[in-house]
Amino acid sequence: MTSANIAPANGKLGVLTPGMGAVATTFIAGVLAARQGLAAPIGSVSQMAHIRLGKKDDVRNPLIRDFVPLAGLDDLVFGGWDPITPNALEGAQAAGVLEERDLAAISGELEGIVAMDAVFDQKWVKKLDGNRVKALDSKLDQAQALMADIEQFRTDNDCDRLVMVWCGSTEAYQEASAAHETLEAFEAGLEANDENISPSQIYAYAALMSDVPFANGAPNLSVDLPCMIELAERRGVPIVGKDFKTGQTLMKTLVAPGLKARMLGLRGWYSTNILGNRDGEVLDDPENFKTKEVSKLGVLDTILQPEVYPELYGNIDHVVRINYYPPRGDNKEGWDNIDIFGWLGYPMQIKIDFLCRDSILAAPIVLDLALFLDLAQRAGESGVQEWLSFYLKAPQSSSASGPEHDIFIQQTKLKNTLREWMGEEPVTHSEAG
Ligand SMILES: NC(=O)c1ccc[n+]([C@@H]2O[C@H](COP(=O)([O-])OP(=O)(O)OC[C@H]3O[C@@H](n4cnc5c(N)ncnc54)[C@H](O)[C@@H]3O)[C@@H](O)[C@H]2O)c1
Repeated sequence: MTSANIAPANGKLGVLTPGMGAVATTFIAGVLAARQGLAAPIGSVSQMAHIRLGKKDDVRNPLIRDFVPLAGLDDLVFGGWDPITPNALEGAQAAGVLEERDLAAISGELEGIVAMDAVFDQKWVKKLDGNRVKALDSKLDQAQALMADIEQFRTDNDCDRLVMVWCGSTEAYQEASAAHETLEAFEAGLEANDENISPSQIYAYAALMSDVPFANGAPNLSVDLPCMIELAERRGVPIVGKDFKTGQTLMKTLVAPGLKARMLGLRGWYSTNILGNRDGEVLDDPENFKTKEVSKLGVLDTILQPEVYPELYGNIDHVVRINYYPPRGDNKEGWDNIDIFGWLGYPMQIKIDFLCRDSILAAPIVLDLALFLDLAQRAGESGVQEWLSFYLKAPQSSSASGPEHDIFIQQTKLKNTLREWMGEEPVTHSEAG
């Protein structure tokens, strides 16, 4: 494929977020601030990173945003749904991520982004009590109401294209059921109000039926289901999920590939967090935490390949804990104790204490996923976009080999995909390349 195959990014791109909490409002506020020249979009690969092209002596190294035809920040418009938050300003104030002085210059714009009534069911998020909720009992009616919201938003805001990024709470743990096996079964399930269909799946269905690409920033299944993959492929819509790679898992996927690159052994990895925002409160419920735990635990095995290196990685104790601790708000503290071993089996320890800001790390991911999914759609791509695994803790995979977790391989894949779409050679990092 060459650049000629990618439709230009004309007109406005609407970014819809189910969930207007800490991550969504920090994302929106950051884009508005960047647009006014008040801040740089730090952490956004699409905006800040360069991409090397050709052979290493060619000295071609444009910004990604100058190389591929992405929507510009000025062309974005924002909308979303939330069962609690009335608008993006109140959402940002309640989340407490950004200080009032940073919100002041953009408060009018934030206040104008009014949350639509949500499709919400407390069964899936016990800790929340929503009151801005669609008064519809039938799941099919709920899906149709979301599709109507999407079309209304498209018209009201004169959008050329839309993308949806799930920034809603983590739903209770579930495994795929019979209702998720095929599109036909899912649609029958909507009609029959099947209890296995969660709100995030209804949003995902509504998005795909409206030809709107969908990214899932939480660990719940949403589009990681055979019926959704079928729908995405059938309608030619790109999808990606799940769970933004921030905080402790970001650290894990930075450190683990390094240990493996040097063939150092690992005996155990104990991770614990304190977190005091609404996300932390939701994750305080064991059913919701289980969804997160499953998403966080998969990372090490895939990176370290214990089946290939049993003497180095065949006996690892991997423990992950999240503790809800209100005084910290969104400023999570993540501790890692890593027990490694080296030459002659001698043990060593690494301690990481990451005083991170969760939503500050997640916001640029929302931006990049929105822009890259829109690009993928204009490039004629559909179904699971593995090249965006870079951004996700538990990336969906469409291949038999399963997901890739090593952030450096993920980065290479992302950049090589962009090179390929633009008719450039992949960079191999060989002596000549
Ligand atoms: N902050 C991070 O670094 C990070 C990293 C990975 C994943 N995530 C995930 O991203 C999501 C958002 O995180 P956050 O920190 O903004 O949480 P948050 O609690 O501040 O915001 C979530 C919002 O979703 C709303 N919501 C819940 N159910 C909904 C529904 N059915 N429809 C529409 N809105 C709904 C809630 O009312 C809330 O305002 C969570 O699932 C979280 O696990 C966050």
